[in-house]
Amino acid sequence: MKHADIGLIGLGTMGAALALNIAEKGFGIAVFNRTTSVTRVFFASAGDLAQRIVPTESLADLVTAIARPRTIILMVPAGPVVDEQIAALRPLLDADDLIIDAGNANFQDTVRRMKSATGPFLGIGVSGGEEGARHGPAIMGGGAREHWDRVAPILEAISAKFEGEPCATWMGPEGAGHFVKTVHNGIEYADMQMIAETYGIMRDGLGLSDDKIGKTFEAWNKGPLESYLVEISGIVAQSTDAATGGPLLDVIVDSAGQKGTGRWTVIEAQHLASPVPAIEAAVAARNLSARRTERAEAEALFGRGGGRLADGAVTLQALEQALIAGKIMCYAQGFGMLAAASAEFGWKIHLPDVARVWRAGCIIRSRMLNDMASALEENSARNLLLAPAFTRMVKGTEGALRSVVANAVTAGIAVPALGSGIAYFDTLRTARGTANMIQGQRDFFGLHGFERMDTGAKGQHGPWAH
Ligand code: 6PG
Repeated sequence: MKHADIGLIGLGTMGAALALNIAEKGFGIAVFNRTTSVTRVFFASAGDLAQRIVPTESLADLVTAIARPRTIILMVPAGPVVDEQIAALRPLLDADDLIIDAGNANFQDTVRRMKSATGPFLGIGVSGGEEGARHGPAIMGGGAREHWDRVAPILEAISAKFEGEPCATWMGPEGAGHFVKTVHNGIEYADMQMIAETYGIMRDGLGLSDDKIGKTFEAWNKGPLESYLVEISGIVAQSTDAATGGPLLDVIVDSAGQKGTGRWTVIEAQHLASPVPAIEAAVAARNLSARRTERAEAEALFGRGGGRLADGAVTLQALEQALIAGKIMCYAQGFGMLAAASAEFGWKIHLPDVARVWRAGCIIRSRMLNDMASALEENSARNLLLAPAFTRMVKGTEGALRSVVANAVTAGIAVPALGSGIAYFDTLRTARGTANMIQGQRDFFGLHGFERMDTGAKGQHGPWAH
């Protein structure tokens, strides 16, 4: 091979998988890793794909190995390493060579990098873990459209396909691609948390075995909840620990890790004043799960939560319906946040394209996203709950969510994300809420002023104003 079609730096789990995927789709790829032995091991284990791979042991060799105008994908840890890599690479490149950051970058970093870039630069979100990177991720692009168009043939070829349609789409300029990926991860956290809450209700409230719980998830995966996360939750619940021969879940410590992408979603949502209570609850639940000592002390003092549910109080069908409702609330919040960001940053993100790119390859891939794409196509400025199809679904499931949350709370079973769903729903559908009390309080202690319902006059004050 005279020259590779593309280059890739960073042969960690995701980078190596992506490189093999690119080679498998018939493209020549030059690769480089800071640790040379990693490159050598990668190349030696590439099998037949090695014929389309050029292993290099210096950045200069990598650059030389790629056909002009060059494109180089960075698959290195998010943060300063990306800046260091760009600084080392850019001087070796021609002015029109394209650098792509395909890591889980904070979108603010991508916006900064794009502004200071001395050559073409894209920030793309890649979702689907190692399996996705190797056999078909979902790819969310951000940056100049002309730069995306240059590399789109390769990204579409390696991406997951939904009914033949590539799940690789340009989301918008600047940091739009990494922003959409961040919100994807926030939704992922909430999806995972709500599934974990239904697991807790089945385990503690109904006393079901892990195997029965797993089979329940398996059954749900044949209905409206069909999704990667429900599918793998069924597998995890039915997995056996090799060392003990017992259920795997029994030996896993209940303290959730987090690299931080869900946290970024919550932080940005506050800046945008965009309500995402399901994601906020999920991040908080991970934070609280990590405080195992404090939780053990609290249990010793207050007695354990998570008691048995009254017989027949919650059926598995009601639980499935509750999870459907909670999922819809969560996605309505996620798409609402994307709409808020698109308006705030002027990105013009096409929300139906976001729903479509998430239909395959990514961690939150699910059947319901196809319906969401259709609803958003009708009107993407509208809260998803107000789309006729979802209004009908919510009317048919919110009662189950309410009942499940009420019974779980009565039994002392923690359901922060599912609970946030019913609170979000009730708040949304109450035209006359209680923020008038907040306005009164604010005016009492800070004379911040309020608007009158009857006259519409603003900046009004209560009798306490002197
Ligand atoms: C994906 C995943 C991935 C994520 C890891 C760890 O879309 O492939 O979201 O990008 O970073 O799964 O995520 P946490 O450590 O934040 O749970």
